[in-house]
Amino acid sequence: MMRNFIAANWKMNMTIPEARQFLHGFIPTVQSVQEDDIIIAPPFTALYAVANAIQGTNIGLAAQDTFWEEQGAYTGEVSPRMLRDAGCQYVIVGHSERRQYFSEDDVVVNRKIRATKESGLGVIFCVGESLEEREADKTFDVIKREVEAGLVEVSFEKLVVAYEPIWAIGTGKTATVEQAQEVHAFIRKILYNVYGDNADEIRIIYGGSVTADNVDNLMSSQDINGALVGGASLKPESFSRIVHFKKDIS
Ligand code: PGA
Repeated sequence: MMRNFIAANWKMNMTIPEARQFLHGFIPTVQSVQEDDIIIAPPFTALYAVANAIQGTNIGLAAQDTFWEEQGAYTGEVSPRMLRDAGCQYVIVGHSERRQYFSEDDVVVNRKIRATKESGLGVIFCVGESLEEREADKTFDVIKREVEAGLVEVSFEKLVVAYEPIWAIGTGKTATVEQAQEVHAFIRKILYNVYGDNADEIRIIYGGSVTADNVDNLMSSQDINGALVGGASLKPESFSRIVHFKKDIS
């Protein structure tokens, strides 16, 4: 059985005291979860504090971005090696907010993924179409391009793919289970083309306005192996409820 992968993307939220307070409330409520992976991606400034606070628990740590070089004169950047040093197991790469506000294209995303994997860290690789692309019937073309370009010379180990339709991020407009399932199945097919049977090990998670109210429904879908949660991961109660999703098979 594949372990589900439930990740919190805190984006540019949470000071160190706020992060500690969140964990104080959150950790006891998820201690019993053994069958799934729980990951928190705080901002860079809180990584080390969160790493310390989750030590010995069933919660893992991710960064929200990285640079592709290991070290050197790159003012303001942080390398995979440094993230590993701070206690991370994963890095989110290719989030649509990075693509949109910081002009990251498929080549940059691929470089970051390769550097992250080379340092031994896992990758949460985000792809997704905009509303215009969906309305112009380009969803599958965009997804195919992003997935294939992002995974050039990338091995399947410790790889998680996140399908995040841009129109569903932070908007309260979740993709329907059918819309998500359709794209997840499509991504799975591309992964089989790239990795053969090893693709079986890759979790494909959904992101975009996941909440405590819709997670059960989404997680009941065959090809949805987890969730990447933004807004609803900022409160211990709601993220805890999401981690404790129940498959809705009615
Ligand atoms: P959201 O963000 O849950 O607030 O829509 C998800 C994400 O961008 O990862």
